[in-house]
Amino acid sequence: MSLKEKYLKEANGLKKPGPFTNSHQVGWRSPSNIALIKYWGKKADQLPQNPSLSFTLKNACTETIVEYSSHGKEGLQLDFYFEGKTNPLFETRVMKYLKSIAAYLPFLDQLHLKIQSKNSFPHSSGIASSASSMSALALCLVQIEKELFNTLEDANDFLRKASFLARLGSGSAARSVFGEYVTWGTSNFIDGSTNEAGVSYTIADNNSLLTLKDAILITSKEKKQVSSSSGHRMMQNHPWADARYQQAQANFGALNNAIITENDEKFISIIENEALSLHALMLSSDPGYSLLIQNTWNIIERIRKLRETTGTFVTFTLDAGPNVHLIYKKEDNDQMKDFIQNELVQYCENEYWIDDEIGTGPERII
Ligand code: DP6
Repeated sequence: MSLKEKYLKEANGLKKPGPFTNSHQVGWRSPSNIALIKYWGKKADQLPQNPSLSFTLKNACTETIVEYSSHGKEGLQLDFYFEGKTNPLFETRVMKYLKSIAAYLPFLDQLHLKIQSKNSFPHSSGIASSASSMSALALCLVQIEKELFNTLEDANDFLRKASFLARLGSGSAARSVFGEYVTWGTSNFIDGSTNEAGVSYTIADNNSLLTLKDAILITSKEKKQVSSSSGHRMMQNHPWADARYQQAQANFGALNNAIITENDEKFISIIENEALSLHALMLSSDPGYSLLIQNTWNIIERIRKLRETTGTFVTFTLDAGPNVHLIYKKEDNDQMKDFIQNELVQYCENEYWIDDEIGTGPERII
């Protein structure tokens, strides 16, 4: 049985919560994640065309608090606050999302929700927040289910349903529900992997790739011209689509191998290939577009030069935007701080960058 079938079946028991008075609060802090094997292209129902692999960040997070009460009528009621203020645009989007998942959480129809959400990073920093925000919200929703119906006692069941629901809000959010390395999408290499939810990708405790740092170099704080949703849509008629999905499968297998064997050189060559291939797909879409700017290339050049001259483990990846994720090992932190300060901040907007690293995943705050 697919997860979709299972959750729809279970939803029959989630229609009417027992009577409760007053309002209750739940809250989760959930991090963003950065993909090393990219999800770019999806099928109906927000299912990915290829498996992706990411690591979850530690510092770039969304904190969401949901206060729920019973209003005794039919029809979900929502008040949404972003960073302390009402936000009609976000409220409309969240309402649309909640309605789209109502079949899995039918009790929402009886509730009034007051949702307060805020990010640990500035909203206008050019950082995608859909992964952290949708995963934080999905975790709150399954927490409410758990409190009202005494379901999802098992932590794995709880996280799997949160990941399934987060995916329906934003594909990459399916991965943020788990810490460290995470995969999403069916793959021969990962037991239990599925297109419907993220799965933890566990590696040995002493693997040095478990303690990577990610300095997010903000080259532009502007809102991007073409959204990820449009980019995914353009993959439907993309002339390279089939080749891309094959490339992603091959890179996924090769990266899995490179991580397990701690083959740094392979790791670097695969993740850079994925980052640049993602942007090549945008360039060759119809219409073609580029989200990269000159300073993205300036930073990439400096990173490659440092690697060539010193042999240090230093590499990069990109998400759907012009900012560069500088990836390095914790043991090289001092050297890299100097490198960022002396050579890279000049290419960042207002010298702004975010010091981040692999994190352990979401935390319950209420
Ligand atoms: C380039 O998850 O933002 O960051 O599912 O439409 O919300 P939607 O798209 P989104 O796409 C992320 C694309 C990416 C690669 C990745 O995170 O795997």
